[in-house]
Amino acid sequence: MQTVRVEAENGSYDILIGRGLLRRAAEHLSLCAGRRAVVVADANTAPLYGEAVLSGLRQAGAEATLLTVPAGEESKSIAQLTALYDAFLDAGLSRKDFVVALGGGVVGDLAGYAAASYLRGARLIQVPTTLLSQVDSSVGGKTAVNLPRGKNLVGAFYQPERVLIDVDTLSTLDERQVGAGLGEVIKYGCIADEALFAQIERAGSRAALFTQLDEVIARCCALKAAYVKQDPLDKGVRMQLNFGHTLGHAVENAAGYGVVLHGEGVCMGMVAAARWGEAWGVTEAGTAERIARVLAAYGLPVTPPDLPKEALAKAMRLDKKASGGRVEVVALRKIGQAFGYSVDADALAKRL
Ligand code: GLY
Repeated sequence: MQTVRVEAENGSYDILIGRGLLRRAAEHLSLCAGRRAVVVADANTAPLYGEAVLSGLRQAGAEATLLTVPAGEESKSIAQLTALYDAFLDAGLSRKDFVVALGGGVVGDLAGYAAASYLRGARLIQVPTTLLSQVDSSVGGKTAVNLPRGKNLVGAFYQPERVLIDVDTLSTLDERQVGAGLGEVIKYGCIADEALFAQIERAGSRAALFTQLDEVIARCCALKAAYVKQDPLDKGVRMQLNFGHTLGHAVENAAGYGVVLHGEGVCMGMVAAARWGEAWGVTEAGTAERIARVLAAYGLPVTPPDLPKEALAKAMRLDKKASGGRVEVVALRKIGQAFGYSVDADALAKRL
């Protein structure tokens, strides 16, 4: 098992990464001893891992219950949030007690925000079960629900007290979801770690990389922890984690949510951002090609689906980080070195 420490001014905690951790959940959840814990899972993760987490909590001396929400983005709603508050009240949860988020990004965001806001803050543990949530969304304290007018419009920065990553949970994930997570893994190499990128290049296939997965996930978590330490509230350098998101989000939006997965949009967006950087002379020549080669080797999308350019341009202008006709873009100097800059939205639209 590997441990990565997150030290941030709004919360410090350990991320535990390894195989079979849920089989020894009691050991890793001993911080819940003597407390109540409500495990929030979805219809996919509850039958697979609910029992292991519940019995681990009980063996650790906690009084634990399981709540199951429907699987899918629709659960990140105010209605579902209210249902969780009611269930927390029914379970007699106090601020000293725990919410345990067991699932991917949707469950992590929903249960995380419920914990952040219930009684002005109950205690939170993240048990992410998708590659994307293990390397990104469970770490760093971003929690949110959606409103009918957009994604993640209500939320809070709320750090968990522990993140428990059992790499074995990825064996039940479908290949497409694994791919979306791999896109984020490759992103870390692009923005901050040339050696990680080279390791992914050398492995050259999902099967080969999966033999090194504990180490790779731990490396991604350590990179994320460093960003979170420097910029816990996402006001500066943490923005580099959005490499590939300018076009990626626009594609997700324009295609209609669920058609292109977030991690897939990021893949296409990374190649586009590197091409823009090369065209503007800020990115080392050949970078886009190198990223595209790795993505292709891992069966990941390199180019966006055929979507109207006007729809993409409009979506980029509506990006949360766009204002005054300018769009914030993350670029690479070269693989392993990212920086942010702002670009005229019309100039960017011409590059699409
Ligand atoms: N998912 C990007 C961040 O946590 O800042």
